[in-house]
Amino acid sequence: MNKVIGIIAGSLRKSSFSKKIGSALLSMAPEGFVFKLVPLDNLPVYNQDFDDNDIVPESYVAFRDTVRNLDGIIFITPEHNRSMPAVLKNAIDIASRPYGKSAWNGKPGAVFSNSPGNLGGFGANHHLRQSLVFLNVPVMQQPEVYLSHINECFDERGNVKDDKTKDLLNKAVEAYIAWFRKIAG
Ligand SMILES: Cc1cc2nc3c(=O)[nH]c(=O)nc-3n(C[C@H](O)[C@H](O)[C@H](O)COP(=O)(O)O)c2cc1C
Repeated sequence: MNKVIGIIAGSLRKSSFSKKIGSALLSMAPEGFVFKLVPLDNLPVYNQDFDDNDIVPESYVAFRDTVRNLDGIIFITPEHNRSMPAVLKNAIDIASRPYGKSAWNGKPGAVFSNSPGNLGGFGANHHLRQSLVFLNVPVMQQPEVYLSHINECFDERGNVKDDKTKDLLNKAVEAYIAWFRKIAG
């Protein structure tokens, strides 16, 4: 059976660069793997009262189930104020609860960060890794993926237009798959 790898882009923006990277990854899944976009729309801000009072929003139930059914995850994070965007942190929090029932547990992950700036979302990348350590998501260490000047990397149809970015993404995905096989068997 194919291994299903979720591609989670930490942006709601229609023309999001992170979403475009996610779409570019879809065709890079090797044999035996399926890459699946997992959107973060319609997830209300996490409130523990939902779980404590058994009034869990339908969107939480669906998102938690989706994450639970993934074999691994590639996170594509933009950077907001040197950290991950709230929408991504919110999604991480939602699927981490109720306490003791985290849907993330043990799923091999990778973090690809991006930014129109020079640093490629370094701050977001490492803040995200910090949460993933706590959630027992083993994260690929190398290569580190910091995509800088991401605003220059797409054509008008939203496809990656430069060979350097294509090559970097291909190598990162190859490394992730090799590492996934090592971790997940
Ligand atoms: C609230 C906010 C904070 C931001 N902070 C940073 C930042 O710390 N570093 C950075 O490189 N870009 C920052 N940006 C610019 C984002 O990198 C840019 O908006 C990017 O396009 C967002 O990702 P997306 O295209 O996937 O939506 C910030 C943007 C917003 C809206």
